[in-house]
Amino acid sequence: MAIKSLDEKFAFELSTLFDAEHQFLEAQRQMVQQASDNNLKSTLEKHIEQSEGQIRNLEQVFSALEQEPKRMKSGAASGLIGDAQKLMKEVAKNPQLLDPVIASAQAKVEHFEMACYRGLVTGAQQMDNQQVLKLLEQNLQQEEQTAQTIEQSMPQLLQQAMSANERSA
Ligand SMILES: [Fe+2]
Repeated sequence: MAIKSLDEKFAFELSTLFDAEHQFLEAQRQMVQQASDNNLKSTLEKHIEQSEGQIRNLEQVFSALEQEPKRMKSGAASGLIGDAQKLMKEVAKNPQLLDPVIASAQAKVEHFEMACYRGLVTGAQQMDNQQVLKLLEQNLQQEEQTAQTIEQSMPQLLQQAMSANERSA
């Protein structure tokens, strides 16, 4: 169906992001089981809980717009997850490399989500829908914080992987 208005464009992007959040939640639940570093594990665990809340927030956004929550397949989410799974498989024999791989995959996901939420936040500002705006801003903030935490942990994760490599060499 052709999209004729900004409201419909907003609804399309909301439904795609709603699907992406579900896909990412499932992927995080699988990744956290393969992470070794305690900080990385707890960052992921915290964000799994946040993601569950984010899905509830998006359901509220749908209802504020008097729409049924609807998932529209996000090819971008499937692609990001597919790339991460491929790389995780490639390092399977060298598990010391797994934590940096998981962290960088999660950082990419957070940045994708940030771009999605920033777009929707701007849309909600234009619509002047304060309720929707608040819910989306809450999600955006959690994505930003998670991206920052993951990125800050990266040098240490790389360092740990490097020392493990040297030990096994
Ligand atoms: Fe996220």
